[in-house]
Amino acid sequence: MSEQPHSAGAEQAPAPQAFDATSKVAAWMIGIASIILGILAGLFNPLLSHSTSAQGAEIDTVFSLLLGVATVVFVLVEGVLIYSIVRFRPAPNDDSDGLPIRGNTRLEVLWTAIPAFTVAFIAVFSYRVLADIDRPVPGEMVVEVTARQFSWEFYYPAQDVKSDELHIPLGKQVLLKMRSADVIHAFWVPAFRIQEDVLPDRETEARITGTVTGTYPVLCAELCGIGHAEMRSQVVVQPDAELQDWLRGLVAAKGQAPAAGDQMAAGRQLFTQYACDACHTLTDAKATGQIGPKLDGIGNIAGSAVPGQSAEDFIRTSIVTPNEVITKGFQPDIMPQDFGQRMSKQELDTLVSYLLAQK
Ligand code: CUA
Repeated sequence: MSEQPHSAGAEQAPAPQAFDATSKVAAWMIGIASIILGILAGLFNPLLSHSTSAQGAEIDTVFSLLLGVATVVFVLVEGVLIYSIVRFRPAPNDDSDGLPIRGNTRLEVLWTAIPAFTVAFIAVFSYRVLADIDRPVPGEMVVEVTARQFSWEFYYPAQDVKSDELHIPLGKQVLLKMRSADVIHAFWVPAFRIQEDVLPDRETEARITGTVTGTYPVLCAELCGIGHAEMRSQVVVQPDAELQDWLRGLVAAKGQAPAAGDQMAAGRQLFTQYACDACHTLTDAKATGQIGPKLDGIGNIAGSAVPGQSAEDFIRTSIVTPNEVITKGFQPDIMPQDFGQRMSKQELDTLVSYLLAQK
């Protein structure tokens, strides 16, 4: 009884208090750690690769800000939680009730006001970035994007040419006007951080400015049917002069009927341009699609598919009205029904003779 080292008059060591000196030191340490870690997370955001568009850089700023704020909140909340669990845990065999707590007005005002302010700040910051990445600039280049099951088509109205991949000039803003020919798709270039729904009944827009030359994947980000995962293309960011060359090449190729020797090349090109390769395997066109029947050797078997129908008629019918004959093991209504309208007669002839020649 004579030895009671530190507790003046108490019978045992005092129970830890929520706001005693130790807790205050701990609170300061947790608070400072959360701010330092939050700043580090925001500055060196380890979750993102480098974006390659002007809009992406701005979007990444928002993301880094959010990551920084989230890190502060996470370290603060979890730090206080772990500290409390360790320091205020009951002694073994202590089955008594905890202290009744009435609340702490100052604390409650703080933890309402600070998050409200933080969320308001993030909202204003995000809104400004959103307004910025949607802002038109005079003379921006327009590309019309058509999404369909399961391919992308990029139409350049100024040159009246189209392509199955998107080419854009380095450092210049491009306006994409997008529409779907069937169901809802979503245009997504991860490297640009740009994702926008593409709808059948309404035009949607996205603006992109490539800042690093290169080739980046274009994906569909809306589950749109059996070929959703195959609905890919690419965007090429290149210096303006190169882009103009490429466009001139498309213009030159458009008017010309292919020479006899080029028929195969032209057919192969159409096979890719109309995205047949997304669904069908055809070695000659380096196509590996798995959704529709294999087309290797189609020229040999097409003649015996339907009694009384020539090989050429069978191939033509299968392109224009694909539901007429469904190969065993495959489903109707998967292949688009509108190739007859989308292809010119000449294109259809070229594609049919190309496929006929696949022996
Ligand atoms: Cu189009 Cu998914």
